[in-house]
Amino acid sequence: MFYKRPRRWELKERDATPESVFLNRRRLLAGAAVGATAVGTIALSGRLGGSGGAKLMPPAEAAADDAPPDLTAQYYPFEPNDRFVLDREITDEAIASTYNNFYEFGSHKRISREAQALQIRPWEIKVDGEVEQEFTIGIDDLVKRMPREERLYRFRCVEAWSMAVPWSGFTLKAFVDMARPLSSAKYVRMETFLNRKVASGQRQFWYPWPYVEGLTIEEATHDLSFMVTGVYGKPLAKQFGAPLRLAVPWKYGFKSIKSIVRISFTEKRPVSFWEEIQPAEYGFWANVNPDVAHPRWSQATEQVLGTGERVPTLPYNGYGEEVAHLYAGLEGETLYR
Ligand code: MTE
Repeated sequence: MFYKRPRRWELKERDATPESVFLNRRRLLAGAAVGATAVGTIALSGRLGGSGGAKLMPPAEAAADDAPPDLTAQYYPFEPNDRFVLDREITDEAIASTYNNFYEFGSHKRISREAQALQIRPWEIKVDGEVEQEFTIGIDDLVKRMPREERLYRFRCVEAWSMAVPWSGFTLKAFVDMARPLSSAKYVRMETFLNRKVASGQRQFWYPWPYVEGLTIEEATHDLSFMVTGVYGKPLAKQFGAPLRLAVPWKYGFKSIKSIVRISFTEKRPVSFWEEIQPAEYGFWANVNPDVAHPRWSQATEQVLGTGERVPTLPYNGYGEEVAHLYAGLEGETLYR
């Protein structure tokens, strides 16, 4: 008989604090003022990171547009998968949705208003490369076909801040199975939209647009790799990378690519956006490792958004028991950046 041993990051349901109890707004607001140094600005300028002292802004209002409706809205909230509960409070939505990295809309954290310009319907994802047959699928069709669930995940940015988020979506494995890759497919490469008209950041020609990220096929088919279409029980707000983004909780946040339009199966390891800009600082693997500092950020601890707390960072962001085996034999690789 199959017996599932609870993992360190899984709490029994009775031990999890309901959101209504732990959301103390004043404390959360106080904690919002954390260092807001941008990954890319620093990568390019080489300046030392300072504290942004960011103020909480009101949630962005959706821009009026005549885009087709989201035909998946009826599915939310997705069924929570109770294997994925956390040892920490869920980050307040007002904070998580106004403190974002989405360089397409600016190299700072307050992009939520500008991101509303992105039209997320119609939205198609092209699947190509080492697959039995290339195809394109619309986001509504995709969400309808996939096994939907909600998971509570930790999220750790290389800038040494973290949050805890209820993502809605489906496993990347379910997507890979649908795509039917060939045995020659060793990597999964993902690409964000390119539209300089709506995304002012993409007019900054010195960045290698579009944003690209990648995983090995073993990482992509690991149960923790999650394709996200919603958060906080609703369809994904645009600033989070609607309508489709990735969440790989044991890696630094820059691996979790937003607003995906293309998924390619490749034989060759893809070069990601940040790796192309600054390979000495950002690599392909980017597994969270508290023992190895980034040139500007110690990775030993992390500022928990909205709490004012700084806590120790765990290897693989606390998911080591699940994923460490993926890296056996790869000790020669720079796995931590
Ligand atoms: N994806 C795209 N397309 N563009 C980006 O600028 N930023 C990355 C990642 N995915 C980014 C992206 C970084 S650096 C982080 S920390 C996370 O998105 C931030 O996700 P969040 O805004 O939902 O917290």
